[in-house]
Formats: sequence, structure tokens, C-alpha cells
Amino acid sequence: MPRPVRFITIEGPDGSGKSSQARLLGDRLKREGFDVVVTREPGGTRLGEQVRDIVLGAGRDLDARADAMLFSAQRAQHVAEIIGPALAAGRLVLCDRHRDSTIAYQGYGSGLDVVEVTRLQDLATGGLLPDLTILLDVPVDVGLARRMKGPPADRNKFELDDGFDMAYHERVRLGYLEMAANGGRWRIVDAVGEPAIVAESVAGIVLALV
Ligand code: TYD
Repeated sequence: MPRPVRFITIEGPDGSGKSSQARLLGDRLKREGFDVVVTREPGGTRLGEQVRDIVLGAGRDLDARADAMLFSAQRAQHVAEIIGPALAAGRLVLCDRHRDSTIAYQGYGSGLDVVEVTRLQDLATGGLLPDLTILLDVPVDVGLARRMKGPPADRNKFELDDGFDMAYHERVRLGYLEMAANGGRWRIVDAVGEPAIVAESVAGIVLALV
């Protein structure tokens, strides 16, 4: 792992609490005096927000290849417009979901060839890899229960009551665990506990490396 770590991604299955943890970690890094850009995918750019509306819109049934390319297209723009320039300026970048989401969801989850989807990521990012990737791991039933307790508006097309596919989400989770088993830039955090405790574990890992 390159030190100091500059480009950090947070990944995890739906309901892993990823977005709150990204916010908490961003706030913590700022309090510690780091100049950090906190961003997310899909999103972060105008194209990213447009793609977000398309791919997460309820009732839209996109082909997995189309999904993979849309997520990857917005990622290319995000790297070109936001992530790359921030890193070049010596800033820290914290991104809520990035390349590994497409590999986990469209590859392992939807069944596209994982090697091909990985190559597509290299194309989209120009070969830029995160220095550190935190995987927030939760069993699928725990993630689902969390989402169902939250506001329905927060649920995306993968989670709508009649559309939630446990087997799909199991494949996504196992895909993440398989990628993380490679070690390297990956760190796995058990995300079942209280958010404040999970946040402490995440901050402990990150602050030791930035
Ligand atoms: P979002 O509402 O941002 O959920 P979360 O808080 O879990 O990130 O929706 C993101 C959804 O899009 C989530 O179900 C994962 C999915 N997704 C993909 O399938 N492929 C991708 O490349 C990305 C970035 C997200």
C-alpha cells in the first residue's frame, strides 16, 4: 500500500451504513486538519448525478451491461473532473463507492464476467486505483432490515419491497469478500455494530495510514 494514503474508497453492500460512515470519516479527517474532498458514486459530477437518476430510478429495468457502462462512464468523468485534479493538488479524496461497486454488483451480482468488468474499470479510471478501500461488511438480512426501517424514498431499485433479491445481494456480498481476501489495499470492517463504534474502527485504520 502506498504511504501516505491519498485516495480512499468506502465500499459495502446495501444497508452497510456506508454513506453515514463516509460522512463521519470525512468530518473526522477535516477535524484532524486534512484537506479532504468527500464525494460519491454514482454522482460527484453533473454526468454522475444524471446517471444516478437513470440507473437508480425505480421501475427502470436496464440490462446489466448497460448498467455497467453507465456506472463506468460516470466514473470516468468523476476521475477526470474531480478525483484526478484533487489528488494532483495533493488533497485527500474519500469516495463513497467506486470501481469495486461495479465489479461487485454488475460482475458478481448480475453475472457479467468479472475480469471484463475489471478491465472496464481500468479503462474508466485510466488505471487509477484507490490506495485504501474500506469494506463495510454486513450480512444481507441485516442490511435489508436497516433499509426497510429507513424512509422508503431511500430505497433504490435494488431494494424495493417486491424486488429485493436476497440471492443477488448474497452474491454481491461474497464478491466483495472475495476481492477483499486479496489483501493489499483492502481492509474489512464489521459494520453490524453501533455506528459510533464502526466509525471508530474506520477512523483507526485510516488515520494510521494517511
Ligand atoms: P445508493 O442509493 O447510493 O445506495 P448506497 O447508499 O448503498 O450507496 O445507491 C447505490 C446503488 O447502486 C447500490 O444499490 C449499489 C448500486 N451500484 C451499482 O450497482 N454499481 C455501481 O457501480 C455503483 C457505483 C452502484
